[in-house]
Amino acid sequence: MNRSYVGDLRSLPFNSPVRICGWVQYVRDFGRVVFVVVKDRTGIVQTYVSQDDTALLAEAKRLSPDDVICVDGILRERPEDMKKPDVENGDIEIEAKQINVLNRCSPLPYDVNGDPSDITRLKYRYIDIRHSGVLRNLQIRSRASMAIRNYLAAHGFVEVETPYLTKYTPGGARNFVVPVRQQPGKFYALAESPQIFKQILMISGLDKYFQFARCFRDEDLRADRQPEFTQVDLEASFIDEEYIYGLIEGLMKQLFMEVLGVEIVTPFPRLTYDEAMSLYGTDKPDLRFELPIIDFSENFKSSRFNAFKSVVESEGFVKGLYWSEPLDRGALKALEQASTGSGQKFLFISKAEESFLTNGPKSVLVEESWLQLGTYVLVAGDSERALQFLGELRLALAKHIGLIPEGRYAFVWVTERPMFEVGEDGNLQAAHHPFTMPNVTSPEEVLENPLKLRARAYDIVLNGVEVGGGSIRIHRPEIQEAVFRVLGLSDEEIEERFGFFLNALSLGAPPHGGIALGFDRLAMILAGADSLREVIAFPKTKSGLCPLTGAPSELFRNQKEELLPVFKAAMEGGE
Ligand code: AMO
Repeated sequence: MNRSYVGDLRSLPFNSPVRICGWVQYVRDFGRVVFVVVKDRTGIVQTYVSQDDTALLAEAKRLSPDDVICVDGILRERPEDMKKPDVENGDIEIEAKQINVLNRCSPLPYDVNGDPSDITRLKYRYIDIRHSGVLRNLQIRSRASMAIRNYLAAHGFVEVETPYLTKYTPGGARNFVVPVRQQPGKFYALAESPQIFKQILMISGLDKYFQFARCFRDEDLRADRQPEFTQVDLEASFIDEEYIYGLIEGLMKQLFMEVLGVEIVTPFPRLTYDEAMSLYGTDKPDLRFELPIIDFSENFKSSRFNAFKSVVESEGFVKGLYWSEPLDRGALKALEQASTGSGQKFLFISKAEESFLTNGPKSVLVEESWLQLGTYVLVAGDSERALQFLGELRLALAKHIGLIPEGRYAFVWVTERPMFEVGEDGNLQAAHHPFTMPNVTSPEEVLENPLKLRARAYDIVLNGVEVGGGSIRIHRPEIQEAVFRVLGLSDEEIEERFGFFLNALSLGAPPHGGIALGFDRLAMILAGADSLREVIAFPKTKSGLCPLTGAPSELFRNQKEELLPVFKAAMEGGE
């Protein structure tokens, strides 16, 4: 007999024979009848063994959680008084006729119904996947990747794989490097993205490329960052920004419909980088709710609150958020606690008919005639950092007052970010990457005033998460060279690092552009999860460990012998 998935049982006729295979979720022994709840990747169903079959009853009583079993039985509708509408498959059950134990499971090493630590979850990831939402999330992720593949294929995109072992090019993310036994002193870098290869594919005439590309970056990890992650990477020739916007909006529409049955409204709103910063204090605004930043500088010009007045007088600003309901003292305290250590000047005011709360000098502020009933969250400063702080407070306040709706998907394009920014070392660096086209037509314009340039780059943001980024690329070698020069590279460095690429640009490069979607982040949002770890089968911990396998690990003696000349030559040669 063919086995059925638990999730498909409901489509079968009652009283027909069925076979299911899976794991024992739990056993409930009522003496003369035993219920065994069985689980497979599609869900759970109750089976039962009645007293008529004493051998089978004894077998059922010996089962324990996570034993692997195969049950043959008859699909039954539960009697009316036994139906449980709030339980999965609560109106059906299987009368077991035979139970084959395919493998007994040792006692589980941790309480799967408790609150296991991340390390425990990852160490026993197979149990964790079996018991947590990850099993469901991986299936959502798979459906998402099918939907995206189908969409891109239908739009003329050709899937091509590019090397993971590639050349180290400083200036991007920190790379993982791989020693090369056959080339003492030399190392590959693990690709941080397929950027250069996909551009070279455009020069090759491929016209439209895509790839589910694994990317490797040695970064500090967070809930939405893993050292290896997956991009839906794509590139197209003879196109402009509007093509990419239309393509990706169509992709999201199809993706959300196929995976969640949710209708996404297009086109997506667009904000320039400057607008996003000044309205929401971030380049990845969460637009599931409004609560924009308002400029209160005028109000403080004539204020008696000197701490803020003086900031406005010295060409700073007072900006803030206004919410029409007053907050209580506890809420203001929570906001204040979240703000300590920020180094920013902030002020919270909550005005109700009968009371007036602040974390500043109340007596001075009570007289401010412009204050209305409600809550003000105000920051005084003159820098982008002050705006970012306000952006963080915007999120904190929205969470606190429950402004963020469930099940809403708010996309926004963020465009026109600066081409260059000043890095921590004081040198200029590319804000997106150095292959991005600035808003110029000649190399001279690049060199003239680089900090004034805007990049023809775009990020796609969903619910406050950057789920993708891309740009129109430089396809003329002289502009590319000028960008490298602005980044402080000498002739020799340009030749050594990017000579092969400049050469390719001079040998028939079409205009082109593209984008890479962070596939793990998209899957995280589709699954309603709050960390990439819930949608990646075998993720790493915050410090880059894999507790399941124990990676990274030390070298074996024979590896050391083989690699010693590689490392020795590396220490002696190079820059
Ligand atoms: P970028 O570096 O912006 O662009 O990466 C594209 C998208 O990848 C996701 N992402 C990550 N996801 C998980 N963990 C990480 N450590 C991580 N880093 C990035 C984000 C991001 O928006 N070559 C360019 C793309 C292009 O220009 O076409 C690039 O890699 O969602």
